[in-house]
Amino acid sequence: MKLTLIGTGYVGLVTGACFAEVGHQVMCVDNDAAKVKLLQSGGIPIYEPGLEELVKKNVAAGRLAFTTSTTEGVQKSDVIFIAVPTPPQPDGSVDLSFIERVARDIAAAMTTYKIVVDKSTVPVKTGEKVAETIKRYCPAKVEFDVVSNPEFLREGFAVGDLMKPDRIVIGVRSQRPVAAMKEIYTPFKAPIIVTDINSAELIKHAANSFLALKISYINAIANVCEAAGANVQEVAQGIGLDERIGRRFLNAGIGFGGSCFPKDLSAFIKIAGQIGYDFRLLKEVQRINADQMDWFVKKIIDTLWVLKDKKIGVLGLAFKQNTDDVRSSPAIDLCQRLQKEGATLRVHDPKAMDKTRSILKNVTYVDDMNAVADGCDALVVATEWDEFKKLDLERARKSLTHPIMFDGRNLFDRAEMERLGWIYKSVGR
Ligand code: UDX
Repeated sequence: MKLTLIGTGYVGLVTGACFAEVGHQVMCVDNDAAKVKLLQSGGIPIYEPGLEELVKKNVAAGRLAFTTSTTEGVQKSDVIFIAVPTPPQPDGSVDLSFIERVARDIAAAMTTYKIVVDKSTVPVKTGEKVAETIKRYCPAKVEFDVVSNPEFLREGFAVGDLMKPDRIVIGVRSQRPVAAMKEIYTPFKAPIIVTDINSAELIKHAANSFLALKISYINAIANVCEAAGANVQEVAQGIGLDERIGRRFLNAGIGFGGSCFPKDLSAFIKIAGQIGYDFRLLKEVQRINADQMDWFVKKIIDTLWVLKDKKIGVLGLAFKQNTDDVRSSPAIDLCQRLQKEGATLRVHDPKAMDKTRSILKNVTYVDDMNAVADGCDALVVATEWDEFKKLDLERARKSLTHPIMFDGRNLFDRAEMERLGWIYKSVGR
């Protein structure tokens, strides 16, 4: 099928590449001319495992192209996906101005029936607004359908998640677009559920909030474990083997971050409040997440006492492993908290250092993870990168003034670290 995606961020670009990979003819539109130029010349603006190969292969096969022209994108395809940012606003609601702008641009360019699909995460009832906007701003007054088709990919695993999704959600207000939507997704061999638009929009917020709730739950359990002398990882395994609970998203740590969970929780609480429900459960999820960072910083201060003039090595800046994304990263929050206490920092991340330089100043960026601890008073693990498990522990232990590690992601085995002579502090064990 001929498909257009508007927005070439984490969702739009990866979705476009995966649609092309299964044989669709895909046009990706972005109003950032420099980004489009980079993509047209074979460059990739983000780090996402497997994406570069996928884009190159499909561009070479003639199935994937890039343009800055929404008009070209709309006229070349029958199905137009909106995948633009919906950033948070200070009051917790989301800024829908990019969606509104794109809806107007699509409307202006439409001369035949189109299916306009919202892939961006939006508050419930946004589809209704998009439909009203397109109707109002379409001079040709052609027929169209609005569809809600939320995306559930995780950054760092986006290609795999998209190629093998757990489910496809299609929210519609009439049956007319259903066959085309199903045809687009048939190659992905996933269960497809068709709902009304409001339910589809709610599914996304409800799913992300539930996952955030799971993380806050295990972080709360971690605090109880620590007070009781239990081990949160064993507890997570013990409860996670119950199929009704599941082991995934039960990793205790310094809290969740990223461009989705914090924003989606706030937006969901906000929209629920606006339509008359005070979502206290989710407010508590947010509070536990904030407390988790306070508690971790306190743990560092309790051990090192005064941080002023102390040198701390930090492993990890990205909000999680396998990504260069640092938006709402707990690791960066942690670094800033340590700086505020007067510590000087040596930091390393396998992919996110470039994106951090403009946000986190007055720190030493270290290219080699094994050199981060050099001359430091303690080493902190802030992101769950797998490769940190391969850290040269002996070198790190010897290069620290005292062999102290604060492992905010429970990457290392506690008994083994103690055997190796470390003063090792982790989360809930
Ligand atoms: C999330 C959802 O998983 C995805 O379905 C949705 O489409 C977008 O939001 P993402 O933000 O890319 O994806 O990352 P995710 O893997 O969910 O991790 C989010 C945060 O939770 C990270 O900061 C991560 O470190 C943290 N996390 C995750 C934990 O602290 N413990 C866990 O067990 C899992």
